[in-house]
Amino acid sequence: MVVLSADLPAGLRMLSLLALSNLAGLSSGAAILPRDDVPAGYVAAPYYPTPYGGWDDDWADAYTKAADLVSQMTLAEKTNISSGTGFFMGPCVGNTGSALRLGFPQLCLQDGPLGVRTTDNITAFPAGITTGATWNKQLMYERGVALGQEFKGKGANFYLGPSVGPLGRKPRGGRNWEGFGADPVLQGIAGAQTIKGVQEQGVIATLKHAIGNEQEEYRMYSVIQAGYSSNIDDRTLHELYLWPFADGVHAGTGALMTSYNAVNGSADSQNAYLINGLLKDELGFQGIVMTDWLAHLSGVSSALAGLDMNMPGDTLIPIVLGTSYWMYELTRSALNGSVPMDRINDMATRIVATWYKLGQDQDYPPPNFSSNTRDREGPCYPSALISPTCVVNQYVNVQADHATVAKAVAQEAITLLKNNGSFLPISTSVPLSVFGTDAQTDPAGANSCTDKSCNRGLLGMGWGSGSADYPYLDDPISSLKRKAGNVTYYDSDTFPSSIPTPGANDVAIVFINSDSGENSYTVEGNHGDRDASGLSAWHNGDALVKAAAAKYSNVVVVIHTVGPLVLEPWIDLPSVKSVLVAHLPGQEAGDSLTEIIFGEATPSGHLPYSIPKSEDDYPSSTDLITFEFLGQAQDTYTEGLYIDYRYLNKNGKTPRYAFGHGLSYTTFALSSVSLTSVTELTTLPPTRPAKSTSVVASLNQTIPAASEAYYPSGFNRIWRYLYSWLDSGEADAAYAAGQSGTEYAYPAGYSETQKAGPPAGGPSGGNPALWDVAYTISATVRNTGASHAGKAVVQAYVQYPSGSAYDTPVIQLRDFIKTDSLATSSSSTVELSLTRRDLSVWDTTLQNWVVPAGEFKIWLGQASDDLGWVCSTSTGACQESDAGPV
Ligand code: BGC
Repeated sequence: MVVLSADLPAGLRMLSLLALSNLAGLSSGAAILPRDDVPAGYVAAPYYPTPYGGWDDDWADAYTKAADLVSQMTLAEKTNISSGTGFFMGPCVGNTGSALRLGFPQLCLQDGPLGVRTTDNITAFPAGITTGATWNKQLMYERGVALGQEFKGKGANFYLGPSVGPLGRKPRGGRNWEGFGADPVLQGIAGAQTIKGVQEQGVIATLKHAIGNEQEEYRMYSVIQAGYSSNIDDRTLHELYLWPFADGVHAGTGALMTSYNAVNGSADSQNAYLINGLLKDELGFQGIVMTDWLAHLSGVSSALAGLDMNMPGDTLIPIVLGTSYWMYELTRSALNGSVPMDRINDMATRIVATWYKLGQDQDYPPPNFSSNTRDREGPCYPSALISPTCVVNQYVNVQADHATVAKAVAQEAITLLKNNGSFLPISTSVPLSVFGTDAQTDPAGANSCTDKSCNRGLLGMGWGSGSADYPYLDDPISSLKRKAGNVTYYDSDTFPSSIPTPGANDVAIVFINSDSGENSYTVEGNHGDRDASGLSAWHNGDALVKAAAAKYSNVVVVIHTVGPLVLEPWIDLPSVKSVLVAHLPGQEAGDSLTEIIFGEATPSGHLPYSIPKSEDDYPSSTDLITFEFLGQAQDTYTEGLYIDYRYLNKNGKTPRYAFGHGLSYTTFALSSVSLTSVTELTTLPPTRPAKSTSVVASLNQTIPAASEAYYPSGFNRIWRYLYSWLDSGEADAAYAAGQSGTEYAYPAGYSETQKAGPPAGGPSGGNPALWDVAYTISATVRNTGASHAGKAVVQAYVQYPSGSAYDTPVIQLRDFIKTDSLATSSSSTVELSLTRRDLSVWDTTLQNWVVPAGEFKIWLGQASDDLGWVCSTSTGACQESDAGPV
């Protein structure tokens, strides 16, 4: 959900709303503002037409059935299933129209990435960033399975997640925590595992937000600003930002959501280069592309650019006027010939095919909850002026045993940054003094702030549409008190002025946090992004740690955070013995943590981003951009491939804790590392497969009779509800205009001839050869410690050939694996793999993935700065190396 005006400085909000409501009455067109020029070299080139769906053999059955159903639909039915019925015009955050005559239901779209939003009896899972920090592919998948079961149990057809955009380019970016970490491979693998788990339950995953939504502020279009333009060069786009979307498409995601902002000057929801070109032709995406909420800016242009569904259906001003750029307008555009019928057929077929592909034609439950109210009964259409009453909440409990997987993720994510003298774990009999309000549930209630739009008490998730309600919250202080004999809690973020002198063995546990979220809310001066707090702990957390460290000789710091924090104010203090990052644990924040503190479990999380010594260690191009009155802020990715560890390594800046860092209570050693060549790589991938013929081409492309769009006679309209019908006079007029010979002013580069597709393209993710395994790496991992069992994470980074014409980061993560728990002195063998894509660069001239000539080094280890083994693709040999690549 969005609050449009929140993107604006306070003084301008009212002005903007007034202006917007005026504008909305004028036209259904999109040209709101003249745009600032995008810097030279950043191009969103025209790409037309939209490739038909249905040329991937894996989708063939679903498309055959879908084409059969769509061939029986009237025009108004086709446009009805492609559009939302309006904000708050149904139980879910988004609701499509239906074609009930043919058995095609209204579809329910619901947030969000960590749980079914705004409802009860669900599991509040750990956030994406927490999941990324587990580096455990199996758990990523199991969390997806559990999420899928809960969405289906509530009757939601779509899971509006996972999020892999933002990627985490900006450390202050507000929604990085919804995704899995500041690296395309970590994002791509975690996103794909989530999609698999969710979709195996029959729920349509919606991979979001494509692309360039790297900051929250100024993301949206209004009359006083255009949403910022993320200006991304072709190579960076392919190797960083599009990368995890390719993985998600490859994993079969049924839907993709575009983002609010523009890419290279063209708004993402109508960016033909992005949707038609990259997503649908190069990645060969066969499913549904939808807008973000209220990001729909035009009728015809967005349809031609490849959009298939607008959400929640309204124009920029929701509810008030009951207007849409689609629904009845899309019907009109088809009748008057501006949107060709094959595009209408294609979008409808994509939607129906996705529904069949996920098996939703087989007894899929309708929604049994309302995201609008907790009452049992309420208006069926809350934003209608007059609405019938429905039973809207049946309070179905979908939790099953999902608390187990939620706790496992929360626990396996916990990242031990520092543990001087193996201070942790400690005994439950040690006297404990606990400081910081973050140790306990918000005293006003775990769900006291809408969408978690406050930071009071334990921080288990960020704020906005990516949040969910806690069914309960196991907070750390309750868990500490359950387990330990002597716990004193100081429920304040200010160190008490007088406390008893601690004994030499007393331990202080200090809880601090850092929050962020969606721009729809401002929390303690932070407008979604951490624009006010920066990378410092909230609520004077640094001072609290320093004060505790001055008084106690044993301090353990626990951090709940959305992303990196600068720890320099206290990290080197001798009494700060141990630091645990518990990320955003969701409902299972208590025992998951205290079992680590007391040694019932061994930490095995690793950082999904770097922790720099100073925010200034990052390039200024990744700072937050500022407001551009009556213009479009330009967010130009001049740092190219160099974000997070890629930038720090290139510039010789040693982080405090490197990407992938994470200690254990035990130690692990790698041995017997070997590299096996599986597929010999040519410089360019083999020729892509040709597209098979799409059934969409066989659907009737003639503009139908206007009567297909008439309101049924005697139909009782709900005021402000969005319908796809027109009054007969309007429909007749549109049809007549279409027959008059006047052509719509199509955009430059417009064409209606289907293309063969680019050389790098192919079904479901691009040229299938990109996923050929080039090498496998095998290694033995041994627990070399004396007293603790534990899980190890093995990470593989690739170093491209030196002297290559392609400037490439020193090392880049390409695969990882987590072992099962290894008892002391026991070992296991792990296997990692590298695909053709993992060893390629995007060549902007050839417009293809190229394997540079020369020797690749594959580095293996337990963090990006702890890579003790190296294999050479030239010799095939692997050896231990003290030097490391960075
Ligand atoms: C967010 C999306 C979300 C949608 C529906 C938007 O504001 O950006 O991530 O799915 O609202 O709530």
